[in-house]
Amino acid sequence: MNKTLRRAVIAGNWKMNKTPAEAKALVEAIRPLVKDAGCTVLVCTPFVDLAAALQAAEGSNIEVGAQNCHFEASGAFTGEISAPMLTSMGIRTVILGHSERRQYFGETDQTVNLRLKAALAAGMQVILCVGEKLEEREEGITGEIVSMQVKIALQGVSKEEMARVIIAYEPVWAIGTGKTATSAQANEVCHEIREVVAGLYDRATADGLTIQYGGSMNAKNAAELLAQPDVDGGLIGGASLKAEDFAVIVKAATEG
Ligand code: PGA
Repeated sequence: MNKTLRRAVIAGNWKMNKTPAEAKALVEAIRPLVKDAGCTVLVCTPFVDLAAALQAAEGSNIEVGAQNCHFEASGAFTGEISAPMLTSMGIRTVILGHSERRQYFGETDQTVNLRLKAALAAGMQVILCVGEKLEEREEGITGEIVSMQVKIALQGVSKEEMARVIIAYEPVWAIGTGKTATSAQANEVCHEIREVVAGLYDRATADGLTIQYGGSMNAKNAAELLAQPDVDGGLIGGASLKAEDFAVIVKAATEG
């Protein structure tokens, strides 16, 4: 399939790191290094850093996103942030269903689906995270697990809305562990996800879908991963906190 049909997206997932002052400094450090990027450059910061990051990114090609949102627009949900709250401050993109949310905060495929529909209804773009655990890979059910996660998350999502969905394939065993999937493993599952989307919608929707790989992607291994036919970008944790490393990955996506 022709990769040029798709937008390459390199997204930093800062997780629970950086104060607003540190976020400003990191965006300012990234800014000159990625100014000629041939891909979308996104940094997803903690909620409290969004305003500072937006301000530091103003007038640049860096987009700022969030790492979660609730499925209701407002109400008695202590500690949560809604999609309309994010859009009101100029945030267009949100990561949903990250494995850390699933593992530590009780997120399920069903709540991911609710959050995803709420974010899309608010006009947002979503990075939907899916991925198998180590034991699931060892049991040989990676394809089934990832297909199920994609199918449940996308229930009730229209073909038109799919233009605002990015899927990130993140094998849980590769996140923050320094163990990267081989480029062949990454491509195989990204390809499977594309076929699931083709089955749910149609070929054109699947061919236009940006699918990222995430899990210990770094300055050294990014070029090989991003050169794979079904890997259209990366969701980067650890390496996105270092401006130079992040910029090397952006450059690899521009070339890949
Ligand atoms: P990592 O995290 O790059 O630190 O492995 C990726 C992610 O969790 O999105």
